[in-house]
Amino acid sequence: MASRKLLLLPGDGIGPEAMAEVTKLITVMNAEFGAGFETEAGLVGGAAYDAHGEAISDADMERALSADAVLFGAVGGPKWDDVPYEVRPEAGLLRLRKEMELFANLRPAICYPALAESSSLRKDVVEGLDILIVRELTGGVYFGEPKEIIDLGNGQKRGIDTQVYDTFEIERISGVAFELARTRQSKVCSMEKHNVMKSGVLWKEVVAETHKAKYSDVELTHMLADAGGMQLVRWPKQFDVIVTDNLFGDMLSDVAAMLTGSLGMLPSASLGAPDPKTGSRKALYEPVHGSAPDIAGKGIANPIAMIASFAMCLRYSFNMVAEADRLEKAISDVLDEGYRTGDIMSEGMREVSTSAMGDAVVEKFRALS
Ligand code: NAI
Ligand code: MG
Repeated sequence: MASRKLLLLPGDGIGPEAMAEVTKLITVMNAEFGAGFETEAGLVGGAAYDAHGEAISDADMERALSADAVLFGAVGGPKWDDVPYEVRPEAGLLRLRKEMELFANLRPAICYPALAESSSLRKDVVEGLDILIVRELTGGVYFGEPKEIIDLGNGQKRGIDTQVYDTFEIERISGVAFELARTRQSKVCSMEKHNVMKSGVLWKEVVAETHKAKYSDVELTHMLADAGGMQLVRWPKQFDVIVTDNLFGDMLSDVAAMLTGSLGMLPSASLGAPDPKTGSRKALYEPVHGSAPDIAGKGIANPIAMIASFAMCLRYSFNMVAEADRLEKAISDVLDEGYRTGDIMSEGMREVSTSAMGDAVVEKFRALS
């Protein structure tokens, strides 16, 4: 069996508390199922700044680049509000994304049956929902040049951001979406605004060409991104995989996420390009939530977002599909049995700590094996 090298970067606030629950799973998978994970731990964010004045050290960056996958907790908090901009906690995550070239951000929106009641949408609209948003993460308007504020000299200023996409960027992100669709319901909906944006015209064209050349077995539809936003709240179950640019993806993935409940439930993956020799991809897995300073240190954070991120890691980095399915089933079953952390608590349910939730998932995972 190939080695399975994991770098754990717990970070700040509730990051380490959530990561501890994943560590329990790794220990059990190694001891009882021979999973062979080799883990190393590093520092990122405020924790790294406190230790050596940088948001991530070169040594940990090297470890991230040579690991098979990185598990990331969360960074930031009021303690580091006044540190210099270049070494602020978020700089650690941005450096990881940049140097690992993580261009594909995967954000699933899954509605666990037990939580369908607590969505802001009607139960029948969200129950059984399972969609995946694939957002381009390293291009588009957040990075395009020129990007500046200029003084027009007449008492006015002008703020400029530039949306830029090249063919190869659209090809590679749509390739990821089509490949993932093949492992799901084989449906991709591409969202842009070709009606008002040149980059949208190119986006639509390149997605269609990529589809025709390599993925014609997958069903492809196109939708204007604003209409896509409406459809996501009207009838989200019409979608399987949505592929879109950095800006639209930022918003649409947050909208889709909230269909399904608490921030404490939401995992994500960020993938790089496959290595031409080995086919393996650089990848980082992290919960969508931040370091939650308001509840850090209290042992009440919901570890499910972090655990579900690890399930994505099993699926996408190690092709351990059965184990990933089992872990996701364990989460769903534990929720069915009424276990709730404070953020998802409702009447008649059983409120548990971070650690007790983690233990329940681990026990269920074992029982399902
Ligand atoms: P946040 O996600 O940390 O918290 C928002 C709210 O959701 C809080 O009330 C928090 O208690 C709750 N929450 C979040 N995760 C939870 C969980 N697992 N279980 C239970 N409740 C949970 O976002 P916020 O407050 O805007 O940011 C706090 C810090 O985190 C800031 O320093 C921010 O920069 C950083 N941050 C870091 C991110 C990352 O590391 N990728 C992402 C977002 C924010
Ligand atoms: Mg966002």
